[in-house]
Amino acid sequence: MDYFTTASTASRRTSNCIIVGIYERGKLGVAAADIDRASNGAITKLIQQGDISAKPGKCTVLRSVPGVRAHRVAVTGLGGVATFGVARFRRALRCAIAAIRDSKARDIVNYLTLEKADDASPYYLARYSVETIANELYSFTEMKSGRKQSAPRIKRIGHAIASRGDAAKTTRGAEHAHAIAEGMALCRDLANLPANICTPTYLARTAQRLARQHAKLETRVLNETDMKRLGMHSLLSVTAGTAEPARLIVMQYKGTVRQQPVVLVGKGITFDSGGISLKPGLAMDEMKFDMCGAASVIGTMAAVARLKLPVNLTVVVPTCENLPGGTATRPGDIVQSMSGKTIEILNTDAEGRLILCDALTYSRRFKPALLINVATLTGACVIALGHHRTAVMSNNDELARRIVAAGTAADDRSWQMPLADEYEHQLRSNFADFANVGGRDGGAITAGCFLSKFTDGVDWAHLYIAGTAWISGTRKGATGRPVPMLSELLLSRAGLLP
Ligand code: BES
Ligand code: MN
Ligand code: ZN
Repeated sequence: MDYFTTASTASRRTSNCIIVGIYERGKLGVAAADIDRASNGAITKLIQQGDISAKPGKCTVLRSVPGVRAHRVAVTGLGGVATFGVARFRRALRCAIAAIRDSKARDIVNYLTLEKADDASPYYLARYSVETIANELYSFTEMKSGRKQSAPRIKRIGHAIASRGDAAKTTRGAEHAHAIAEGMALCRDLANLPANICTPTYLARTAQRLARQHAKLETRVLNETDMKRLGMHSLLSVTAGTAEPARLIVMQYKGTVRQQPVVLVGKGITFDSGGISLKPGLAMDEMKFDMCGAASVIGTMAAVARLKLPVNLTVVVPTCENLPGGTATRPGDIVQSMSGKTIEILNTDAEGRLILCDALTYSRRFKPALLINVATLTGACVIALGHHRTAVMSNNDELARRIVAAGTAADDRSWQMPLADEYEHQLRSNFADFANVGGRDGGAITAGCFLSKFTDGVDWAHLYIAGTAWISGTRKGATGRPVPMLSELLLSRAGLLP
């Protein structure tokens, strides 16, 4: 994909398709007003006749508008002026792309960047624009037989700028977003693949392939023998019921010298049946998405390596399947984690924390500047926050604040939940150091409490992505979140944000 900026007015711009916006009650966006003037009121006339709508989610593609150089003008609804913001900007753009994706347009120009959206800067408008377009053009057809859907025809994306001074920031925003979108696409591909293909071995191969593509990136893969030697009996207890071998993937990107790395740990359960504490059958297929944490940290690594960011980043992915079987772990079994602490496994379906605790203990050897794990850890966080926001828990409120702020800037939003001693007693065990579940009440919080027992003295945060990493229903599929938020944190650490 090629990106460019243009300071020319909408009517004079040559292009296969320009995207312009209109507000409700007849108010035209900057570019729509220019088109209207150049075409003797063509847009106003169509609005008056009720042929085009300014409602969010509506887009009309006009062809051969008199006085306009572009072949097509996609007029997209921005809704009311007072309520217009980043969310509407993205929705209007998504809708325009959906309307032209099957056309022959190769070269498009987005003029919505001239509108005022929640005071977003030209850099961020370009970020949101490219990310939105790439995600709208994404499709997952790898598993379909027969004729594959043809690749999107759009090859060049332009952004309108109000003055020449905005050109550099807009271009940088587009480039950053391109890398983030590629990371999201990798994340979505891995997550959308079924568990019989995207196995722990497949994830490991993907990580090794990435390392071959980027000079500063190295991947190491530990097998079950290595893990046994390290004392990762908590992790190994989860994989006990399956024939599919477990892996611990370690990716190290060195973009700078003398800097402690950021360490990202991603839950990589390639299928979560619950184990002996078997899940009910309804929607169990969606438990192939239980590796979205892993997919998102690998996707973030891909974005960081592509941008050659001057940061050090380590990604650790514990990955296995959680299946029942004659050799599977039983409720009541007690295992010793790598940290030495013993765990009574009261519910084999609370397996994420069992693999993450050993991965967190292992991660300490990298002396992380900050340690963030990303996991589809509990259904409870979906009950708490629904599908819009990722939940954040941290042993450092300043770190939590930075994560929430990064999510807001990247438009990949989150919300902090408390990590407090009051909940601790719920994990008490009569037989081991503690149990792996703390009952229904505050289920997300007690899961975080469990993990915090393994991160003493490290600045650590946990992201709960069960509500945000994929969508269910007719549009079922992975979203690529929270790659934008994590990338934002690393761009900020690299000092590359305006
Ligand atoms: N992977 C699930 C969490 C999950 C469930 C995510 C449904 C998205 C949708 C996790 O391993 C799990 O099963 N958690 C249990 C914990 C419980 C046993 C304490 C849960 O949330 O029910
Ligand atoms: Mn589970
Ligand atoms: Zn799980």
